[in-house]
Amino acid sequence: MNSRRFAILREMGFAPLWRLRTSAETGGSEADANAAISGLPPGEAPEADGSSQRVLTPTHADTPAGSSSVATSVRAMSTSHVAAMDWQELEETIHACRSCVLCEKRTQAVSGVGDREARWMFVGEGPGAEEDRRGEPFVGQAGRLLDHMLAALDLKRGEDVYIANAVKCRPPHNRTPEAAEIAACAAFLDRQIALVRPRLLIALGRPAAQVLLGREISIGAARGKRFERSGIPVIVTYHPAYLLRNPLDKGKAWEDLCFARRLVAEGA
Ligand code: URA
Repeated sequence: MNSRRFAILREMGFAPLWRLRTSAETGGSEADANAAISGLPPGEAPEADGSSQRVLTPTHADTPAGSSSVATSVRAMSTSHVAAMDWQELEETIHACRSCVLCEKRTQAVSGVGDREARWMFVGEGPGAEEDRRGEPFVGQAGRLLDHMLAALDLKRGEDVYIANAVKCRPPHNRTPEAAEIAACAAFLDRQIALVRPRLLIALGRPAAQVLLGREISIGAARGKRFERSGIPVIVTYHPAYLLRNPLDKGKAWEDLCFARRLVAEGA
């Protein structure tokens, strides 16, 4: 391990435990992955939902059709309009969007950031206070950990990486976005994914995973598996905010990133 990588891992609080391993070593199974990380306590964390510190509410996937006029109107817009937008039109539409109540308290909508031809696309839940103020995803405390996670993979924000959120406006008090709010933003995320055409989508936390996969999942059960969305591979891992509260699970997140790296290297 070179000294730069060691410094990054030490910064994350995992220097002795997080170390790069070859794909042959990491194998992919939960058992192998646990064995690859010395010192990691075995077993699942008691409440390993992998989300940020937000109370989970159902996603649009389990919202009965027509239960929200907001969601319905935006779903209509998604097929007829958003799906055909170029980047400029998409970003302008996101910034002007007033399709759900989240627009009322936001400072600004936070679209996405990074390389528009990235192979790696990370999807979080929604902007927090710092993101709302600065207009860029993952620039607060959780964002700093995400940057360290990227650096541990020799990646960096903006280079071969695109970062977006399930909802583009900050939910008040950092609550979990509601089903109608996620539905109102779904067309925007769809279009971002279609424009970037990443080689791999990485869902950070349960709400993002549910949006990308369109169904209820638990992070503990879904980790280490390769899902697909419109032909693009999807994997799930813990939200960085969750990892800040549950640092022992950083080892599992590192396994997930190694799995992701292998998928990207193999052409996913
Ligand atoms: N948490 C998220 O899910 N997204 C952000 O942009 C910041 C924090």
